Amino acid sequence: MPTQSTSKQLWRDVQVFDGLVQLDEAMTVLVEDGRIAGLWPSGEFNEARAEGAACAGRGGVLTPGLVDCHTHLVYAGNRAGEFEQRLEGVSYEEIARAGGGILSSVRATRAASEDELIAASLPRLDALLADGVTTVEIKSGYGLTVADELKMLRVARRLGELRPVRVITTLLGAHALPPEYAGRADDYVSLVCDEMIPAAAAEGLADAVDVFCEGIGFSPAQCERIYQAAKAHGLAIKAHAEQLSNLGGSALAARYGALSADHIEYLDEAGVRALAEAGTVAVLLPGAFHVLRETQLPPIELLRRYDVPMAVASDANPGTSPICMPTLMANLACTLFRLTPREALSGMTAQAARALGRLDLGRIEVGAPADLCLWDIQQPAELAYAVQAGRLRQRVFNGEVVYAR
Ligand code: NIG
Ligand code: FE
Repeated sequence: MPTQSTSKQLWRDVQVFDGLVQLDEAMTVLVEDGRIAGLWPSGEFNEARAEGAACAGRGGVLTPGLVDCHTHLVYAGNRAGEFEQRLEGVSYEEIARAGGGILSSVRATRAASEDELIAASLPRLDALLADGVTTVEIKSGYGLTVADELKMLRVARRLGELRPVRVITTLLGAHALPPEYAGRADDYVSLVCDEMIPAAAAEGLADAVDVFCEGIGFSPAQCERIYQAAKAHGLAIKAHAEQLSNLGGSALAARYGALSADHIEYLDEAGVRALAEAGTVAVLLPGAFHVLRETQLPPIELLRRYDVPMAVASDANPGTSPICMPTLMANLACTLFRLTPREALSGMTAQAARALGRLDLGRIEVGAPADLCLWDIQQPAELAYAVQAGRLRQRVFNGEVVYAR
């Protein structure tokens, strides 16, 4: 990973989206020692304040580096065949119950070595980076044995050493019931609680613990056991909840102080209130909604009314969202869920960082790490409006220009 740049750099006359709002005037931004050191309307900028600074860019739109707060980027194989089956009318749940779906990726991932998983995952990571990502969360969940889950997490950590990007890892041992535990789900949950979570915590391989709370996943009671174990090991909590039905998984997660509840198409008002009270972020995953051709919309209006922070993520995974283009997610969040472009962009920057417990990221403000994107567009809303690769002019990580065109 490149070290922090100690030089002083200036971006001049840029339109700034600061992670929450678009600033009114063209701005000049000073970066020093890897952090944002100053931010002025260009008309008020005084050269003396940035003595010795080199001009790194001029014009365009400057945003925080994008934060993709929910991905399953590490896996082997693909599920193009299931995509065709679903187009012929077989449902995601039917495929899962027949031993396909997540379990098909589990078979391929268990058979792959760490190096093979790196080779399979790097092109997907590179696609995210080319679209402006500077922080990515990566889940396990296709191993489902202690060794294979740790293998996935190790691969995720190694990806963060191979590329200039922050990787946050999440243990998703409770993603599906592996075939060797058929009929013994509670025993598998014990394995997650008593062995996987302690091992991942001891090796520093997981920042958080996630569950799939669903009829084809795990029950709220089983998820609660997992949350207790996660808490006992000091790990943050997340949930895949209310994706295909309403089991109250989001409210349960909120009760345990979860950072986020993700998917939430079937969330009801009581669930929204629970998220609001706990300060849990609602992570919207329009890619999965789109690919599964879902019709149940997440309760956006209620989330707004209760002031629940909304993040947007790619959910990049081989089944429900084989899409590694975060700016497309901004577009889908607007077209499918009717977010405003501002909400969508905030959802991929400041709110996404919040969903990872990283309040220092996803903002352009003095003191924040200088993870930035400079885009060849006129105004921030264009990132959600047009779907177009190649608009990224620079990607800045820790104050260093790590990609420039
Ligand atoms: O976020 N819902 C469960 N997990 C993933 C899908 C995983 C898969 O199908 O491989 C999701 O949609
Ligand atoms: Fe997911």
